[in-house]
Amino acid sequence: MITLLTVVGARPQIIKAAALSRAIRSFFPDQIREYILHTGQHYDKNMSQVFFDELGIPEPDFNLSVGSASHGVQTARMIEGIEEKLLALKPDFLVVYGDTNSTLAGAVAAPKIHIPVVHIEAGLRSFNKSMPEEINRIMCDHASTLLFTPTPTGIKNLIKEGFQINSVPPFTSDNPACFHCGDVMYDNSLFFAQLAGSKSSIMEQNQLKVNEFILGTIHRDNNTDDPVRLTNIFRALNDISRNENLDVFLPLHPRTSKLLEKNLSGILLNEIRNNPHFKISPPVSFLDIIKLEKNARLIMTDSGGVQKESYFFEKPCIILRPETEWVELVENGTAIIADADKERILEAFSFFAENKTLSFPPVFGDGKAGIFICQQIIRAFDGV
Ligand code: UD1
Ligand code: UDP
Repeated sequence: MITLLTVVGARPQIIKAAALSRAIRSFFPDQIREYILHTGQHYDKNMSQVFFDELGIPEPDFNLSVGSASHGVQTARMIEGIEEKLLALKPDFLVVYGDTNSTLAGAVAAPKIHIPVVHIEAGLRSFNKSMPEEINRIMCDHASTLLFTPTPTGIKNLIKEGFQINSVPPFTSDNPACFHCGDVMYDNSLFFAQLAGSKSSIMEQNQLKVNEFILGTIHRDNNTDDPVRLTNIFRALNDISRNENLDVFLPLHPRTSKLLEKNLSGILLNEIRNNPHFKISPPVSFLDIIKLEKNARLIMTDSGGVQKESYFFEKPCIILRPETEWVELVENGTAIIADADKERILEAFSFFAENKTLSFPPVFGDGKAGIFICQQIIRAFDGV
């Protein structure tokens, strides 16, 4: 039996972990035993527990409860806690997802005590090292043994950094293996889409009508912490909703909610509060957000996950960042990078209003990335 310790901590990782856990339980229960460690990076019920309850992920075996802190303090606490559990459990692999501080902590703790790291969502690059996530991605990839990229671009990026695509077993951190496997979030979106249709009542709860609202999410530190950027985004959303008589639904990350009063002017806050089309909500569950994504007219976001889901559900997307790791969306013309620039956001909105025929060729795999990853872990363990 192969033992995995999966490290999760932030909302998107918990959701991603559902795909691999489901694949293990459904297809490999006699070959793989998964333990889950939650770092506690996200801890509000609607940022963490709701996903375990809704997505059928086993409850974590360990919870470090590190909570919020500066990057250094938070990551250091995680490394200490993960190392302790690794020494006690001695798993065959440590599994991490994406690019958060929880990812980095796992990727630093495990290889130093000779436990190979499996990085799911490897190879993505924004080429902007002012993002904490870019540092986390690069460091994690270079400490990993099995790297799974969601897109062919991920493989190209790894090759540019010196990774070999034709390495032969046995795989180690000095002889890593890179696989293009598709996106575990695509697995999840396919798997949960129907359930969201029948179970979620988020549209009724918020009086939202099909195709008559914009769905927005904002949580990147360079947007939330910068009053000018945050103001530009909220001004653009407010103008569009007033000019077009269109609802704007914003399930806000707690980071953003906490900074609205500080970083938006009283005048703008009043305008928003007096705009009946502007609907701000706490974070919603995964089934709820899928329902919203499927029914929105357009999506505006600085989230990596929500950008991709706009593509899965064939919706135009305005990216509120200066660049994206998900370059395929922009190349396909279904997403436009508008940064936090009011005029660019308004132009992108007009563009999509006039150009309604978009095509969404498949780029994120076949919905079976989780199964492929399990198969490769088993092969790597067997040394074949
Ligand atoms: C983290 C990730 C980011 C990811 C995002 C997903 C890093 C460096 N960043 O950003 O890549 O896109 O998660 O959502 O790891 N807070 C709460 N309740 C919670 C969690 C957070 O109130 O349950 C508030 C706290 O004020 C905290 C702030 O949000 O200080 C930021 O949380 P943190 O986990 O540090 O970073 P995120 O912005 O969530
Ligand atoms: N998400 C959610 N509820 C929300 C907002 C987002 O379930 O209110 C989901 C979203 O569908 C996606 C994931 O959270 O699967 C993305 O997480 P987030 O935007 O926090 O982080 P990122 O992907 O940018 O790292």
